[in-house]
Formats: sequence, structure tokens, C-alpha cells
Amino acid sequence: QSNSRIGIFGFGCVGQGLYDVLQTIEKAGIEVAGICVKDKEKPRSLPASAFTYNPQDLLQDESITIFAELISDADEAYSIVKQALKAGKTIVSANKKMLASHLPELIELQQNYNGTLLYEAAVGGSIPIIRTLESYYSSEPLQQVSGILNGSSNFILSKMESEGLSYSLALQQAQELGFAEADPTLDVGGFDSVNKLCLITAHAFGLTIKPEQVLRFGIDTIKKEDLEFAKSMNARIRLVASAEVTEDNELSLRVLPTLVTEQQELYYVTNETNGVTIAPVFAGEQFIKGLGAGSHPTGSAVWADVSAALSGYRYSYPKAAIKTIALNQDNKINIY
Ligand code: HSE
Repeated sequence: QSNSRIGIFGFGCVGQGLYDVLQTIEKAGIEVAGICVKDKEKPRSLPASAFTYNPQDLLQDESITIFAELISDADEAYSIVKQALKAGKTIVSANKKMLASHLPELIELQQNYNGTLLYEAAVGGSIPIIRTLESYYSSEPLQQVSGILNGSSNFILSKMESEGLSYSLALQQAQELGFAEADPTLDVGGFDSVNKLCLITAHAFGLTIKPEQVLRFGIDTIKKEDLEFAKSMNARIRLVASAEVTEDNELSLRVLPTLVTEQQELYYVTNETNGVTIAPVFAGEQFIKGLGAGSHPTGSAVWADVSAALSGYRYSYPKAAIKTIALNQDNKINIY
């Protein structure tokens, strides 16, 4: 890995996180070739000379072997990722909205142009959920993958229930800490969880789902009284995303505020932490938990992808015993 040069798009919360990680890990053996940002005026931790403002400066640089796309604008991210893949390059992305909207095309581009796209940081922050699904469960059918996939919503619910914060103050704190999306409606409206569930579904069930196909409710209508009601039942409200094979062998996809009890792992997932339950048919239920948002946890997940990609790692998109799918009217997918 000693001669690898990386081009970074975006220097917000995640870009800065990746940069810090690269500076800290002595053996990273990777050189930052350039950082492309949009806003020339924004104050940053590095001198202006560290930045370029034209994506082509990086995309056309033949010495760059790997890119990290860490910007929030989904359309620009799509354009950058497409160009990199068409050039047969390796790119790591954290843009779940962009990825969920264009996954079938991006998978095809990787195949046609021999490019590589990894996106662990796009789902569950620091949790290696995509890698885990790919590595361990491709040989066994899954019954269910479900959990808390949005750190901001979980942070807001936790702060409201434990410190009595108002919804708006808790949201403001989530924004100040860099957990929330540039448009926080994506977080509290459940859209971000939907996008992440789409990515999980591709790796857990081998199905590429459109975000519109997922039943979705956010936490934006949850009131203090609802949390108090949950507490009176020794329960908590969590925004739970789930992809579950039903008795009729359909895949039910939903993001819903859900009552979780003290007997459930998700009860103990607080603040910006995420937690995912994986239920393989034979192995039995397993649970994975870790920081789901924030600069260093997410930067660490990007670095994990960069490191893996440099060693030749690619996703295999396991087909998991599913042959064909057909949609029916109520957000379910028949599996034959
Ligand atoms: N806004 C996202 C969240 C960031 O709160 O989970 C991490 O994907």
C-alpha cells in the first residue's frame, strides 16, 4: 500500500474524520493527493492551499489510485462516483441517499468497467454491517435484518427521554455534533433509515429495492407524552428499520417508530449509537452495535473501506437463495 494516493471529495464532518484517521494511523501508507471542496469561503482546519475546487482536478489525475466521495449533495456525488467507475477506478462513498437511489446502475457500472465501489460508512456509521452480511451470511438464508440505523433520530429520542430535552433542542444538538444530515428532514422523517435499509437489503437478500418501496414513518410526530407512555410500560420508542421474510415468503420492508422493551437489545441502544440484529435461519439471532454517526466513527469506516479496497476487496452481492421477485401492492415483495 506504500504508493497509494487518495483523492478526497468533501471536507465536512466525514471528510475531516477520514483525514484525521489517515494522519493518525502510521502504517496507513497512503498519501492524500488532493481534497476537493465546493465552498471557497468556509473556514477549515487546513490552509486554502490544501484544497481544489474542481472535481476534474482529482478525477483526471492519473496518479490517484483511489477516491473517497464524502459530500452531501447526492446529485454531485452520483456524477463523481459514475465518472470514477467508468474510468475503472476504485471509489469509496458514504452517500447513502445517492447509493440507494442508483444502486442497480452502480452495480452494473462496476461490472462493465471493472471499477470498485465500497460504502461501509453509508450504513450504521462505524458498524461493519455490509462487510458482515457479505462475509458471513452469503451461504445461509436470512430471516430478518433489523435495527436502529439513524444516529440523529436515536440521539433525539434518547435526549428527550433521559434529559427531558425538547424535540427542537435535541435536534439542534444533533446538528451541532455533526450527526444530522445537511437537511435533517432526511433523519427525522425516516428517509435516511430507508436509504440504509435499501443498501442492507441488497447485501442481505440480494435484492435492489427502491426507497419508495419501503413503508416509512419518521420520529417527527413523536411527542414527550408518547415517550412518557412508553416509559410507563418499561419501554422506549426507537426508530426501527427492518427487512423481514414473512410466513408467506414475502420480504416486508419498513421504517417505523417502534416500542421496544427491556428484554430487547435495542432498548439499550442510546444517543447516536446504532444497533442491528441479523437473524439467519440456522445460526440464530446475532446483534451488532456501535457509533452510528460522527466524524471519527464514520471516518474510520471510510478508512476501513479504503484499506480493504487497496487489498483487492470487492462486494459480491450474494443472491441468497432468491431467484426472482415480483412486487405486489402493499410494499411487499414476493420471493419465489
Ligand atoms: N445523519 C446520519 C445519522 C449520519 O444521523 O445517522 C450517519 O449516516
